[in-house]
Amino acid sequence: MEPFAAVDVIRAKRDSGRLTDEQIAWVVDAYTRGVVAEEQMAALAMAIFLRGMDAAETARWTGAMIDSGERLELRVSRPTVDKHSTGGVGDKITLPLAPLVAACGAAVPQLSGRGLGHTGGTLDKLESIPGWRAELSTAEILKQLEDVGAVVCAATEGLAPADRKLYALRDVTSTVESIPLIASSIMSKKIAEGSAGLVLDVKAGSGAFMKTRDQARELARALVEIGAAHGVATTALLTDMSTPLGNAVGNAVEVAEAVDVLRGGGPPDVVELTLALAREMLTLAGLGEVDPAEVLASGRGYETWCRMIRAQGGDPEATLPVPAHVHVVEAELDGLLSTMDAYAVGVAAWRLGAGRARRGERVQYAAGIRCLARPGERVARGQPLLELHTDTPDAVPAALAALDGGLVVSDSGEPEDPGKHDAPAGGRGIVLETIRS
Ligand code: URA
Repeated sequence: MEPFAAVDVIRAKRDSGRLTDEQIAWVVDAYTRGVVAEEQMAALAMAIFLRGMDAAETARWTGAMIDSGERLELRVSRPTVDKHSTGGVGDKITLPLAPLVAACGAAVPQLSGRGLGHTGGTLDKLESIPGWRAELSTAEILKQLEDVGAVVCAATEGLAPADRKLYALRDVTSTVESIPLIASSIMSKKIAEGSAGLVLDVKAGSGAFMKTRDQARELARALVEIGAAHGVATTALLTDMSTPLGNAVGNAVEVAEAVDVLRGGGPPDVVELTLALAREMLTLAGLGEVDPAEVLASGRGYETWCRMIRAQGGDPEATLPVPAHVHVVEAELDGLLSTMDAYAVGVAAWRLGAGRARRGERVQYAAGIRCLARPGERVARGQPLLELHTDTPDAVPAALAALDGGLVVSDSGEPEDPGKHDAPAGGRGIVLETIRS
């Protein structure tokens, strides 16, 4: 005999009530078991979308989703700390960050996903390295964490299965964009991974899930509150995603850029964000006295990258895939490049073959975009602005259509947000705010 009827739980939320701890624990578990039907959970998700959940309900909902599966026990000798990004265009930060923070003394378990839509997936990027393997057993994850300190691999099926089922349902019932549902979805997976500290990179801007800074701040606060409620030290950085991060968007091109950063080069914004996130992670891990900039400059981050890639069967020195076709987009007039819109560039890279429209589709490892100029720069007519990389040249017209309106060269005037994109050598001021519990 079930302790509740789904219809009563739905009615309570529909009428703006608070769900009790017992109702939440039951409804999430019963949905995972198939006792609560898809249409009942769809109605409840819509009621939550419209009526919301308070912080305590959201924390409990997250707990119920964690309890739906296994929780990794990270018994390793170093302090564990993880990072999660809400996703953006050109966001390859995990690649330099995980080995860098490991080289500083922490253990970084990065259970990652594949790309869907205009934002790329970390696993797709790493799979462009010949031989590299994303699927690891729990024993392999623990061994690599102990031996190397960093592991980036596919999340195991057993983590938060309620979220996998609910996320697929939200996707087809227009209930994705709800802060309590997004926050509980992200945190259930991250907390189930078992790391003691968590730094969140919450992106704001056209290329992000959250288009405005206010929405991103609201999500960041909800995420940090859930972390605190579950005893996971959590900090969130709000970061700019109005224009692509770095100069590379795609798979192999992003790996190459990440390696540049680890070897002491790379675009200033990628270096800046890597170091900002590393500092927060080290603070949460109790290693706040270690300076990640020094470790980066010493080459130890790059050495750890090579060991991390080799541990998963990859060859860090292998040549990365090169595209069969390159199309150059030039400036049509002399002037100021006032906009290079992240969403437009992300969709264009996706259409070139870097991403997938459906789960399970293959991606082209060589596909993507190299940005040859940055917003805020003066450009001359005929100057190359972007390189479009693809193995399928018939994809170029669709990519160009996606870029329409996303690249703006104005013959007078200033960038739309002066100072944001033209920061000095240190970067473009990519971190907007820090939110701590
Ligand atoms: N990412 C997630 O993992 N869950 C959401 O609900 C949205 C983005």
